[in-house]
Amino acid sequence: MQRIDRKDSHLSLCLEEEVEFRSDDGNGFASLRFDHDALPEIDRADVRTGIELLGKKVAAPIVVGAMTGGTPRAGELNRRLALAAAACQVGFALGSQRKMLQDPSTRGSFAVREAAPDLPLLFGNVGAVQLNYGVGPRELRQLVEGVGCDAFFFHLNPLQEAIQPEGQTRFAGLVSRLRAVVPEMGVPVLLKEVGSGISETTARKIRGLPVAGVETAGTGGTSWSHIESLRTADPVQRGTGERFARWGIPTAESVAVCRRLLPDRVVIASGGVRSGIEVAKALALGADAVALSLPLLRAAERSVETAVEALKRVIEELRTAMFLTGCRTVGELAQRQLVRARDLTASP
Ligand SMILES: Cc1cc2nc3c(=O)[nH]c(=O)nc-3n(C[C@H](O)[C@H](O)[C@H](O)COP(=O)(O)O)c2cc1C
Repeated sequence: MQRIDRKDSHLSLCLEEEVEFRSDDGNGFASLRFDHDALPEIDRADVRTGIELLGKKVAAPIVVGAMTGGTPRAGELNRRLALAAAACQVGFALGSQRKMLQDPSTRGSFAVREAAPDLPLLFGNVGAVQLNYGVGPRELRQLVEGVGCDAFFFHLNPLQEAIQPEGQTRFAGLVSRLRAVVPEMGVPVLLKEVGSGISETTARKIRGLPVAGVETAGTGGTSWSHIESLRTADPVQRGTGERFARWGIPTAESVAVCRRLLPDRVVIASGGVRSGIEVAKALALGADAVALSLPLLRAAERSVETAVEALKRVIEELRTAMFLTGCRTVGELAQRQLVRARDLTASP
């Protein structure tokens, strides 16, 4: 029997199963609202969503989140997602490029610049834990140069590795390994979680590293603990995965923590962000940009046009939220206060 590739099995589960952490306020944004301004004193046509992110101009503070590459199916999804990102002039992140090191023939599935040469901002990606499994500066430069990326993500996924049947869980000593390799990379480096969020404890460790920034990927969206529990045949491992499906820090909380502890670094919010209103809330909490993954994967599975439409919808919602809070620029959103929803029937 042919073994199904892990990336393809993740893609099938994400496209066919319920893999999100669903609750009324899983990502922490629902209990926060903007102070709607009925006299915004600006014209909607004057709202500008463009920003500069890591030295690159993008039309909106949005990144297509890191997901895939390494198989023909993954390569086709990367191509569609990259074309959609280029059409909307937003950032695009590759999924883990580990496969490129194991099998150089998979490079084409990550070579999105060839399909979408006008992508404004491209991120490479590999698991930080790979630094404990033989990946060093030479391999990392190979990953950066092999795809021509502008910046690079190391993902941090201890929960996923703990539940994954073939998980790599030797996380000891990674802080000092990261300190050593980051200056060798030749492009700005960011650290990202994959769905359990960056906490205050982690942000304090990151503060001492020469990284350009972080991506929060808090709870409320795709749950890797749940996905890995669906992949394992071992009932104990499966039960453990289910138990930890909600483990972590909600995205809104993680954004606020990262902004406070990493005031001079880039903070990208992600984890269950599903609308332009939530994008606006993340920006008001101090994020510089916001990444969305699962909804864009599902759109790209249908067509490039569907993915473009999904991105355009999020950008239009952001534009409307900016208009209704009197913000001409994304920078002004960071000055807007979010109000915690109150129960007016309760006694003070
Ligand atoms: C199919 C799929 C594959 C993913 N693969 C990676 C990966 O290889 N590297 C990575 O850093 N994150 C990966 N992620 C995590 C996302 O980048 C993101 O952090 C997470 O899914 C939360 O965002 P969401 O709720 O918008 O999906 C993947 C997500 C999905 C849906």
